[in-house]
Amino acid sequence: MRVLKTVEGVKRYLGQARRQQNAEDGVAVGLVPTMGNLHRGHLSLIERARLENSVVVVSIFVNPLQFGPQEDLARYPHTPEQDLRLCEQAGVDAVFMPTVTAFYGAAQPHSDAMTRVMPSKAMVAVLCGSHRPGHFEGVATVVTKLLSLVAPDRAYFGYKDAQQLAILKRLAHDLNLPSQLVGCPTVREASGLALSSRNSYLSEVERQQAAVIYRGLLAAQQCFQAGERLSSALTAAVAAELAQEPSLHPQYVELVHPETLQPLERVETLGMLAVAAHLGATRLIDNILLRDR
Ligand code: PAJ
Repeated sequence: MRVLKTVEGVKRYLGQARRQQNAEDGVAVGLVPTMGNLHRGHLSLIERARLENSVVVVSIFVNPLQFGPQEDLARYPHTPEQDLRLCEQAGVDAVFMPTVTAFYGAAQPHSDAMTRVMPSKAMVAVLCGSHRPGHFEGVATVVTKLLSLVAPDRAYFGYKDAQQLAILKRLAHDLNLPSQLVGCPTVREASGLALSSRNSYLSEVERQQAAVIYRGLLAAQQCFQAGERLSSALTAAVAAELAQEPSLHPQYVELVHPETLQPLERVETLGMLAVAAHLGATRLIDNILLRDR
């Protein structure tokens, strides 16, 4: 496995890989963008990429541009040796692990000098976007940089961050990016808690309390399966379950269309229920798809 620290290094590596494999059988490159502290959720994306591509590249980069000034950039978990070991075991071909300066250049990423990618305003105005100003612009900018550097055939993202995936799919469509963006199912703990690097901020007790989020989503799914279609009733079912855990402070519970992210008053054929909540100093998100069979 190659560990690449510079943009030039990535270009050189992929140039070689593409030339070598072209001579044989044609080459398909899969990219899994991450911020490191890899867990089974990330590994499920890597496994999928491994199945579908001849070359798998994982990027590990804690992108300062997507963190707000009051957010957790400084304490974001950083476990590079463990991450490299997991990538090696998962059969990754190359890990791109630049410093901020190596990726963004000498200009600071937040400076006005730098080009940014502005995603769909309508899709950023809802859910997490309305509580995290600038976040999705930071995500869109770094993912555009990664996609244009690696030019993968496929790039893999989790449904856990459903708003991120929907915004990036729209971006890839609007800017005619050639990569296919592949969505992958959310990996959960036995309790139902969605795996997240931010779960490492939780104490053991908080981890158990956090499982109420998925229980809330499942309660609404049951109502949906029993015929309920109204947003007001479905979100109330989530809220009622969340209220069972007084330490949890919900930020939003919303029903939207999973592709456009626009709020729905009722589910016609497809909807997504999404939750964000604070537990102590940790912000958690989760979602579930509601679909007519
Ligand atoms: P990060 O939080 O490290 O997540 C990297 C990828 O793993 C994302 O596509 C995310 O949706 C996916 N993922 C996280 N938890 C998951 C789980 N429990 N099950 C399945 N997939 C999961 O998301 C980011 O990094 C960044 O915003 C990034 C896209 C890398 C841009 O900086």
